[in-house]
Amino acid sequence: MTPARSASDRRTFLKATTTTSATFLLGSAATASAAPVRAQSEKADRKVKVAVIGCGSVSTKYFPHLKGCPYVDLVAACDIKPERARRAAEQHGIPRHFSHMEQLLAGSEFEMLVNLTDMQEHEHLNREAIDAGKHVWSEKPIANSYEAGQELLDRAVEKRLILRGAPTPVASPQFAFMNQALREGKLGKVSAAHAAYGHLGPDWAAFFYEEGGGSLPDLAVYNLTTLTGLLGPAKSVMAMLNIVTPRRNLHGDITIRVTEEDNAHVLLEHAGGALSHIQSGFNYFDPHGHEGTGQTRPTITLTGTGGAMGLIGYDWAPQGVELATSADPILRPHCTDPQGYVWQNGASLMAQSLATGERLPFTAEHALHVVEIITAARESSLSGQRMKLQSTFEWPIQV
Ligand SMILES: NC(=O)c1ccc[n+]([C@@H]2O[C@H](COP(=O)([O-])OP(=O)(O)OC[C@H]3O[C@@H](n4cnc5c(N)ncnc54)[C@H](O)[C@@H]3O)[C@@H](O)[C@H]2O)c1
Repeated sequence: MTPARSASDRRTFLKATTTTSATFLLGSAATASAAPVRAQSEKADRKVKVAVIGCGSVSTKYFPHLKGCPYVDLVAACDIKPERARRAAEQHGIPRHFSHMEQLLAGSEFEMLVNLTDMQEHEHLNREAIDAGKHVWSEKPIANSYEAGQELLDRAVEKRLILRGAPTPVASPQFAFMNQALREGKLGKVSAAHAAYGHLGPDWAAFFYEEGGGSLPDLAVYNLTTLTGLLGPAKSVMAMLNIVTPRRNLHGDITIRVTEEDNAHVLLEHAGGALSHIQSGFNYFDPHGHEGTGQTRPTITLTGTGGAMGLIGYDWAPQGVELATSADPILRPHCTDPQGYVWQNGASLMAQSLATGERLPFTAEHALHVVEIITAARESSLSGQRMKLQSTFEWPIQV
């Protein structure tokens, strides 16, 4: 089998084809010819002024990555809990901090908002930022429904702004390897895939378990992005969802009622002809813990008439790919180096892309397709019906 391009091959290739594309600013569909973002150089000609809203758990991963990105000038931090914004500003040398979006927009000049707030807050904050002329990187989901997300994207494109959202597994070298193996027909006709992601659930915030939360937008979103990225947009979806733990303790003392699914099983029919099953939940014992450290087994498997392939580790922390084909029917490890890929890279890559014109491998259309799958899965679980999907995205993905 021919391995995917090595890291240095990819860098050389990307360097040779790098162009600063003005069309990049118009959205994803028109940008197929621009080079994708590549490994960060140490110096940047232009820095993008970035403000972060939401200084909770995930921000502790984002801030250091943004600080280390040569294309980012962190100018403001904001949180409705003022103490959190102040602490983040002090810790990371950020000049301004605020306790409300209105104050942030009025009191700080910035180009790009990084939205790390509760899932239920994203849609309205993303809209306020776009209306104020800011580019937006949003943690998942970009919006609470496909329709609202599409409306946000239309507003952004009209204003020549970029809107993108987590997660970013399509930017990993392991995704690139699997994508290329599929394009080269290594698996023959791909028939089936399975993916699973879960842990025992966050205990620091109620929003994960309330309306607008749930294991689908928090956890399954990664596997849904990876499998639709590899196998094509979903044409239809069926699902069974339930609540295994109806009451939860937060911080060890407050008890909350769980209203959204903490156990989800989703079946997808992909445009490429394969069927896939994705499961996610907040009741999964994982010997590798919340961080998934030290995973040695595949969490995603794909099978076809001519081969089988598995992603070792989670797609947000990939450890390698195993592949067996009819020509070489032994599962062999490939692409075992994450090559610097980390899941919290999205906002930094977007700043780099804004500064250089390099193309991002992840699109808003793909993120919104996943939002539509999630809402359709909920409708399917309630009605028992197979749901047809309307959205799509440019596929195969160019990475
Ligand atoms: N924590 C993780 O490991 C992790 C990993 C990947 C993605 N995420 C995603 O990141 C987002 C945040 O998760 P988290 O775990 O950091 O939650 P969190 O509760 O720890 O942090 C959210 C912060 O947003 C602030 N906030 C809420 N509404 C706001 C508003 N309107 N204006 C300003 N600040 C506001 C809260 O006060 C809080 O400090 C979610 O979308 C989650 O799915 C979290």
